[in-house]
Amino acid sequence: MTTELSFRIDAMDDQSRRGPWLNLLRDVFAIDLSAYSALDIWHPGYRAFSYWAGDVIAANVSIRPLPLLMDGQIVPAAQLHAVATRPQWRRRGLFADLMTRVLAYADGRFDRLLLFTAQCDLYRPFGFRHLPQHSFVGFLDAAPDSAAAADCRCLDLADADDRALILALHAARTPVSRDLGLVDNGDIFIANAIARPDWQLRYSPGAHALVVLAEGSGRKRLIDVVAPAWPDAATIAAALDLSATDGEIEILFPPDRLPGDFRALPYTPEDDDHLMIRGPLANEGAAIMLPLTALS
Ligand SMILES: CC(C)(COP(=O)(O)OP(=O)(O)OC[C@H]1O[C@@H](n2cnc3c(N)ncnc32)[C@H](O)[C@@H]1OP(=O)(O)O)[C@@H](O)C(=O)NCCC(=O)NCCS
Repeated sequence: MTTELSFRIDAMDDQSRRGPWLNLLRDVFAIDLSAYSALDIWHPGYRAFSYWAGDVIAANVSIRPLPLLMDGQIVPAAQLHAVATRPQWRRRGLFADLMTRVLAYADGRFDRLLLFTAQCDLYRPFGFRHLPQHSFVGFLDAAPDSAAAADCRCLDLADADDRALILALHAARTPVSRDLGLVDNGDIFIANAIARPDWQLRYSPGAHALVVLAEGSGRKRLIDVVAPAWPDAATIAAALDLSATDGEIEILFPPDRLPGDFRALPYTPEDDDHLMIRGPLANEGAAIMLPLTALS
């Protein structure tokens, strides 16, 4: 191992530690997470494993808890992300070394690990496998309800009360699917929502439910539903502003909680972000999708 580098594990809930880490992501991925960082909602279990050259991070692999409902049971799971080595430090084994350390840390803490990547081959030697995802297209079986639609309002990420509401909804959320669903991902949800101004965050006060949607290729796209109690289909149709003349919708999670007639189609990630998993999954090969609000 290169002697001039020092290894560290950092929690990120202390804002003063994040600067070099934000710089690494800016320099390697051209991602600016400063607006998210300023909100100070980092998960306390987040850990950045890194090699430092002075006050600069040369290489990093991060792990964040991301519990999942899988096959009807909540399992301790975590997500690997922010995998980066600065160009001048590449091909020295830093990534491989950090992966080995992160996997040793995860052993006994998390039953499943997942990540999104455009480079699946990088992770196969570490026991990860690609999980092809599917979207679901069809008709939602719900009568349009114009009064419920008028009741919905759009949440504003710049508003502290709305952010607190989003976090509270996530802390108590019912997973979108019994097959594969997120349990408490408020931090990463907000990071994603900041980066996706095309997402609409519609909140139904009556149902105490947040419905995330976007306009897809000619169809309305249902991206996520975040609510302590799963809302009825009429509420979701109202949040989607569906009318009797609307055609099929596209759902980006397994629709086992939604009434309707849906077919699974292979899903091609917009940014080539393929889902990989490490650890067992019952019903492997079934049509699944993790909500895009977990992307990282
Ligand atoms: C991918 C990346 C993290 C690798 O970092 P690194 O510290 O150079 O990796 P290592 O030296 O530990 O390499 C370990 C193994 O990974 C593989 N590997 C490394 N870089 C690779 C690349 N660009 N393409 C394919 N395989 C690669 C090789 O098998 C290598 O083994 P080798 O010694 O036989 O070459 C680094 O190139 C990087 O930051 N790239 C830009 C960001 C990125 O792509 N992140 C990961 C995807 S989300």
